[in-house]
Amino acid sequence: MGLAVFLLGAICFVSCLALPAPTRTAEITPSRLDKLTLFSQYSAASSCPANYNGSANGLPVYCDAGYCALLRTTETEALYSFQGVLPGDTAGFIAADHTNKLLVVAFHDTMSRINGRTDLEFLQMDASAACAGCWAHSGFWQAAEAAALLLARLLEDARARYPSHRIVMTGHSLGGALATMYTVFLRTLRVYVDLYTFGAPSVGNLAFAEAITNNWQGLGTNYRVTHADDKIPKILFRLSRDRLTSWIVPEYSQSSPEYWIRSAYGRPVTAADIQVIEGVNNVTGNLGRGLGNIRDHTWYLGNTSVCVGG
Ligand SMILES: *[C@@H]1O[C@H](CO)[C@@H](O)[C@H](O)[C@H]1NC(C)=O
Ligand SMILES: *[C@@H]1O[C@H](CO)[C@@H](O)[C@H](O)[C@H]1NC(C)=O
Ligand SMILES: *[C@@H]1O[C@H](CO)[C@@H](O)[C@H](O)[C@H]1NC(C)=O
Repeated sequence: MGLAVFLLGAICFVSCLALPAPTRTAEITPSRLDKLTLFSQYSAASSCPANYNGSANGLPVYCDAGYCALLRTTETEALYSFQGVLPGDTAGFIAADHTNKLLVVAFHDTMSRINGRTDLEFLQMDASAACAGCWAHSGFWQAAEAAALLLARLLEDARARYPSHRIVMTGHSLGGALATMYTVFLRTLRVYVDLYTFGAPSVGNLAFAEAITNNWQGLGTNYRVTHADDKIPKILFRLSRDRLTSWIVPEYSQSSPEYWIRSAYGRPVTAADIQVIEGVNNVTGNLGRGLGNIRDHTWYLGNTSVCVGG
């Protein structure tokens, strides 16, 4: 009897300690939702020619009429534009956000044939300059390195003009991958950067995803946003684990946390629609859904297409 009580107590002691906290959906606050919405609009605006060809410089960040509602009520000033940066044919812009006191660097997504080739350069290169054991998608890494060379001067100028503004990197798809790489480069130089990506593919191996998740604490926060069954954030993760393709596609992982939007294509997004998922390669969210589709890739808290032809 005494022994049984003792054993029960011991079992309870072990298992009661190990009981998970009461499950609840980690929901985001309304102000967090606003920020995700705002940066999804900055990301989408990076495919507008006016923003990457320089014609908007000195003016508010451009979107076609009827798009980017939140960006329109934000005081923005396009500062610098860039395009055709090789290798990679990278384009985008740097803007000041005076409402939120930010310098926003936005990279555009896949638009050109060269961009498409960059996406396909999935063989990895040594990224141990950034973190131990890290291997990076060579297309994204080399494109981001070239962009970083050009952007260093522009960003210095922007910081001299607005010294109290903090840096935010953002982008959709390929743009999100480049924003992630450039964020890593700057954080290794001890520069504070917040990162918002939308539908971004994996940028490297497990060590790289773990480093993005855990290294550089205090140097900025990551918001890796995915939508429903979007194929792009999971394609490299899947191919590198598939029996038929893993012989050619090296191991790819995704960082944590993930902000997984569960509402359907074309629907407005509420805070309750976004689930925060912790854990590198956690398959509870986008990684673990179906085979993936491209339609979900084109809707991130709104249409990712906010300009004619972009
Ligand atoms: C930039 O793009 C805008 C919008 O498409 C266009 O009107 C303008 O002529 C372009 N400017 C340059 C310098 O290419
Ligand atoms: C998003 O924009 C594209 C391109 O303009 C358009 O074809 C599509 O219908 C839009 N989607 C929604 C849900 O409005
Ligand atoms: C994955 O995410 C789910 C949902 O948020 C969570 O309950 C679970 O603990 C996570 N798993 C890991 C390994 O982090």
